[in-house]
Amino acid sequence: MSQIAPSILAADFNRLGGQIHELEENDVEILHIDVMDGMFVPSISFGMPVITSIRKESRLFFDVHLMVQDPIRYIEEFVKDGADSITVHVEACEDVRAALGEIKAHGIECGISINPETSVEAVVPYLEMVDMVLVMTVHPGFGGQKLIPETLKKVEYLAGLRKERNLHYNIEIDGGVNRKNLGEIVSLGVDIVVAGTAVFQGDISENMKMVKEVMADAS
Ligand code: DX5
Ligand code: ZN
Repeated sequence: MSQIAPSILAADFNRLGGQIHELEENDVEILHIDVMDGMFVPSISFGMPVITSIRKESRLFFDVHLMVQDPIRYIEEFVKDGADSITVHVEACEDVRAALGEIKAHGIECGISINPETSVEAVVPYLEMVDMVLVMTVHPGFGGQKLIPETLKKVEYLAGLRKERNLHYNIEIDGGVNRKNLGEIVSLGVDIVVAGTAVFQGDISENMKMVKEVMADAS
């Protein structure tokens, strides 16, 4: 059964704590946290102080997605601030193995992420090392974009390879998920579905009810 990971990029930051509580009341277990540096992606989102602050109030699993150039520089700090998992981009690391090793050395889960224009082969050398592969279904940097359908082929490829090689990583997708395409995504075998706008726009509890219904129908 797939799980939903709401992305707080789409939250109302004036009411962030309350919105996270509302997610918890709706049985959410994973919170997706998008950190952008204005270098690897054009936009800047938020960083350490926000994570430290929500960590005090929430027991959710913090899935930290670093859209940051040379992320190895910040791993220790994000672990200290409360990350349960850190995902780095294959395109952003000088030494991917070193970055993943640094995350693992801190005893948390590690993920590798891949942009829409990067071939899926780029992550294959690291599949034995990771707990998760994050397939970007939009160009990273902004919420509210349209899902790029071709990126879903990577999900099928990664699911096939996982079976063939008896590996255990989760497959996560991120970007452009809505109530229309959610069913198809779940039926492809995605383990974790990130959703920003679809969860936070309008009424969170109503949106979560819809998400749960579609997920249950499709799995
Ligand atoms: C994009 C981020 C996503 C984004 C998803 O760079 O990594 O997590 O918040 O937002 P939606 O679901 O609105 O496309
Ligand atoms: Zn993300």
